[in-house]
Amino acid sequence: MNQLTKSMVRGSLILVLPLLALSTGCSDDIVCESDLEQTVTFTEDIAPLFEAKCNYCHNHEKTGVEREGAPVGVDYTTYAASVENAQGALDEILAGEMPPVCEACPSVPNAEQANLLCNWMKQGTPE
Ligand code: HEC
Repeated sequence: MNQLTKSMVRGSLILVLPLLALSTGCSDDIVCESDLEQTVTFTEDIAPLFEAKCNYCHNHEKTGVEREGAPVGVDYTTYAASVENAQGALDEILAGEMPPVCEACPSVPNAEQANLLCNWMKQGTPE
C-alpha cells in the first residue's frame, strides 16, 4: 500500500468504528437495576412480554379505535418497531403509566420484567 491508500484506510476506519460501536455494541449509558449475565433476546424474552402487556393496543395490525388510543407508530409487534420504541416502553413502565388502567388491561410489568427490558436495551437489543 502506498502512503495515500494507507491514510485513506485509516481515515475510513476512524469513521466506521464508532458507528459499529453504536449499532452493535452494549450501551454503557443505560443503567439497569441489576446487570443480567444471560443474553436477553427479543424472541425469547421481550416479544412475549410485549405480547402479554402491550400489543392488545400497540399493534401494527390494528387501526383506528381498535388501537384503544395507542399512538400510531408506537408498536411492539415487530422486532424493528420494538427496538425503535424501546426507550419509550422502559420510561412508561418505570413510571407505572403503561399499560393504562382499565377493566381488561393487563397489569404494569413488575420490577423483574422492567429489568429484563432494560438489560435487553443495554445489551444492544439482540434479536
Ligand atoms: C389498553 C391499551 C394499552 C395497552 C395495553 C398499552 N398501552 Fe401504551 N398507550 C395507550 C394509549 C391510549 C396511549 C396514549 C395516551 C397516553 O400516552 O397515555 C399510549 C401511549 C404509549 C406510549 C407513548 C407515550 C408518550 O407520551 O408518547 C408508549 C411508549 C406506550 N404507550 C408504551 C406501552 C407499553 C410498553 C405497554 C406495555 C407494557 C403499553 N403501552 C400498553 C394504550 C395502551
